[in-house]
Amino acid sequence: MNGWNRRGVLAAGMTVTGAAITGCGGDPAAAEPVAPTDSAVAAAESVRRAPGARVVEVELVAQESTVDLGGTRVRTWSYGGSVPGKEIRVAKGDVLKVRLVNRLPAETTVHWHGLALRNDMDGVPHLNQEAVPPGGEFVYEFTVPDAGTHWFHPHVGTQLDRGLYAPLIVEDPANPGDHDVEAVLVLDDWLDGVDGRDPDAELATLKEGMSMGGHEGMDMQMFASDLLGGDAGDVDHPLFLINGRTTADPFTVNAKPGDKVLLRLINAGADTAFRFAVVGHELTVVATDGYPVEPVTTGSLLIGMGERYDVVLTAGEGAFPVVAVAEGKEKRAAAVLRTGSGAVDVAAGVPELLGRPTTVDDLTTPVAHRLAERAPDVTHDVLLGGDMETYRWTINGALHPDVPPLTVREGQRARLVVKNATTMFHPMHLHGHTFQITGAAGPLRKDTLLVLPGQEIALDVEAVNPGQWMVHCHNLYHGEAGMMATFSYLRG
Ligand code: C2O
Ligand code: CU
Repeated sequence: MNGWNRRGVLAAGMTVTGAAITGCGGDPAAAEPVAPTDSAVAAAESVRRAPGARVVEVELVAQESTVDLGGTRVRTWSYGGSVPGKEIRVAKGDVLKVRLVNRLPAETTVHWHGLALRNDMDGVPHLNQEAVPPGGEFVYEFTVPDAGTHWFHPHVGTQLDRGLYAPLIVEDPANPGDHDVEAVLVLDDWLDGVDGRDPDAELATLKEGMSMGGHEGMDMQMFASDLLGGDAGDVDHPLFLINGRTTADPFTVNAKPGDKVLLRLINAGADTAFRFAVVGHELTVVATDGYPVEPVTTGSLLIGMGERYDVVLTAGEGAFPVVAVAEGKEKRAAAVLRTGSGAVDVAAGVPELLGRPTTVDDLTTPVAHRLAERAPDVTHDVLLGGDMETYRWTINGALHPDVPPLTVREGQRARLVVKNATTMFHPMHLHGHTFQITGAAGPLRKDTLLVLPGQEIALDVEAVNPGQWMVHCHNLYHGEAGMMATFSYLRG
């Protein structure tokens, strides 16, 4: 199912060997990696945990079942039999205790995307925990430190491109917001069970087809987008979904005319960036990846895989298409915003999509939420390589798990200089931290960032959450084809 253990830090029996991580200079005794079982991990957690914190308990059953995607019934894997899985909603500072029950025919884990949580609960097999076998259970228990729109999904193989994903919404009791209505919209590209394909077979086809010099009907550049600077994707998903619904029977957000509506947008897609718009409405972007931004009002918004955006709008009167166009793929996902009666055509033209969408280039984080100015103590290059022909997607010339770790010590400021030497965009995601970029509009806090072809961008990270963390491309197929590395804290 995965080949992640060769350089894993977590060996069988939860022991850590110094040989697990190579390539670090200096005192060999001090060059041991911080294991998820280390006291430093527990110490960081105890700082986050308030005495008497509320404990929220959830049971999460990963299972195979038949799911109705709005007219299309598929046999797939999901949490609790629905796509997306049921949202988990907690308050900042709560302790979340989730019992994962694995009824899948494969091992699995849960990764809590966007949270700076304790390292032994981060859900990467062999790095943070042993994978949970079929029939097995695992209890995730951690303090939830970060408010905002987050989500969770497995970190095993291609499971994310089945139905195994759900929102994790963390409210900030000190900042409840002044909206009248809230809706979470999860965007996804879907292929499992529709036309004989499944994500594992798709990955095999990509790897094998490419090594044989391409296969029938497969152009080297299947999809293209100027906005994304080149290739727009590798996989031809037949369906695009909002909240698990096709355009044939879309999800509806109900409100009253004049309501202030907060939409929490999550891109759970494997291979698709979306352009998002609501017909007849302007959107004000107020947050991304759990951090507030200086508000920007726009007609449309670009959302890469793994990214989240919170937007607010003032609802007009009637029924309006809510559209997420698969960028470069000429298909769309849709929902409906309804404040009155009337028919709505979700396939209609969307004037809001004619202008340039808002991207990270337009966004900046308010001063109070920025990292303090500080020179980096350690700088690592993160060179992204690869192409469709070989379907080897590399970091610093190597495939995971052979990429030398990007090492750091607790308390340091790290700089990851990401350079994209490919002809395709890569949504780069760092676990357990929120980095800061200096974008066109100013400093911006993110945990997932689209890095376009030819782009070079520095991610600044405050190393305050000890452990072993993945940094990887959130194109699921790229990640599985090698584009992953570890951001590895060393002891001492
Ligand atoms: Cu959604 Cu490793 O991440
Ligand atoms: Cu990628």
